[in-house]
Amino acid sequence: MKHKISEMLTMLHQEHIAAHLKKQSAEKQLALVEQINGLDLSVLNEGENSETRGRFEPLFATTLGEIEEKRESFTQTGLKAIRDGKVGAVLLAGGQGSRLGFDHPKGMFDIGINRRLYIFECLINNLLEVTNAAGAYIPLFIMTSADNNKETREFFEKHDYFGYSSENVWFFIQEQLPTLDKNGKLMISENGNVLTAPNGNGGWYDSMAKTGMLRVVQNAKIEWLNVFAVDNVLQRIADPCFIGAVIESGKVSGAKVVAKAAPEEKVGVICLEDGKPSIVEYYEMTDEMLHQREPDGTLSYNYGVILNYLFRVDKLNGTLSVKLPLHRAFKKIKYMNENGEVVVPGEPNAYKFETLVLDMVKLQDNCLAYEVDRSKEFAPVKNKTGVDSVDTAQELLRANGIEL
Ligand code: UTP
Repeated sequence: MKHKISEMLTMLHQEHIAAHLKKQSAEKQLALVEQINGLDLSVLNEGENSETRGRFEPLFATTLGEIEEKRESFTQTGLKAIRDGKVGAVLLAGGQGSRLGFDHPKGMFDIGINRRLYIFECLINNLLEVTNAAGAYIPLFIMTSADNNKETREFFEKHDYFGYSSENVWFFIQEQLPTLDKNGKLMISENGNVLTAPNGNGGWYDSMAKTGMLRVVQNAKIEWLNVFAVDNVLQRIADPCFIGAVIESGKVSGAKVVAKAAPEEKVGVICLEDGKPSIVEYYEMTDEMLHQREPDGTLSYNYGVILNYLFRVDKLNGTLSVKLPLHRAFKKIKYMNENGEVVVPGEPNAYKFETLVLDMVKLQDNCLAYEVDRSKEFAPVKNKTGVDSVDTAQELLRANGIEL
């Protein structure tokens, strides 16, 4: 078996892993062989992200003004769906947060200044506003990774779920994919295994299926799942008005969007691609698309996504067999070098392979783009300082009356 693995690694030009294997104790060798057998080595064939795209057309959003006019009706529809137990929420918290450089799950970051306010706490506070208004809890599924699951669970336990009902919280672990160095070589982790990283936020539904979470969804008769990122501290979760707007529209999915601050803003924009809802990244847009305007002067490709989507469960089931494209991202990832030393890189050093939630939008028949006010709902914590940082998020929290 060991011999076969070495042969296979050599064939894949990964002789250094075969050499590493050889140096291990018999027990470690067994464990490593088992790990390698379970790895998805198809990433070794992945080149640059080279997905061919279809024909783009604008997709217009339900605007702030239109939402305001129907706020009451949308909200009541959404609250009813929540009370009827038809809505679940999925917190995507399996990322590595490499840009923030915080050595714990990002949700454990304390964004407070004069008081303690963890990111997880901010999110639960926002969710509690909704569950208090509805008078019913919303099942919350938290996606973690193999690396951060234990710490995340313990953190929630220690803080008594920040006042949420623990019976309504489920944790599940997403899958991993191998990472590659600049030369396309597999890497070794600090514990001597082949280095892997979480497989991106697009795998959430698949991981829910594999970890038995869909049984919970089915048993509870949940019809809608609101998926959102951990790092937007102004995130409105299971927003009744958003849910109601999607339900009343008769569409099978919804995406919260913000109007672009400038034509060149670096955000993925919601659009139609070959007639299906889709997201086009800023770097995929031609100059003409970036600047194209409607007769009323607004940009034709105006609405950036903020990683807050609503999906209809029955439609998601139909996408389980679809393989989402893998995107390659160059990131800072801790590893063990050939001398057995653990290296914490200061600069990006490794390719990570990720599927993305935004690619699930394309699998939907239609999608309601629902405009929100970015100053009220979008404060991402990606970096330590500068754009989308702790500083900008703190400023936005304060502007929204949240004491820090
Ligand atoms: P990002 O794309 O910002 O990635 O995640 P990240 O890993 O958190 O941070 P960087 O890029 O290394 O700095 C957007 C959202 O998707 C989740 C993150 O936790 C965040 O909520 N995510 C990302 C996952 O749940 N799993 C992943 O594999 C990647």
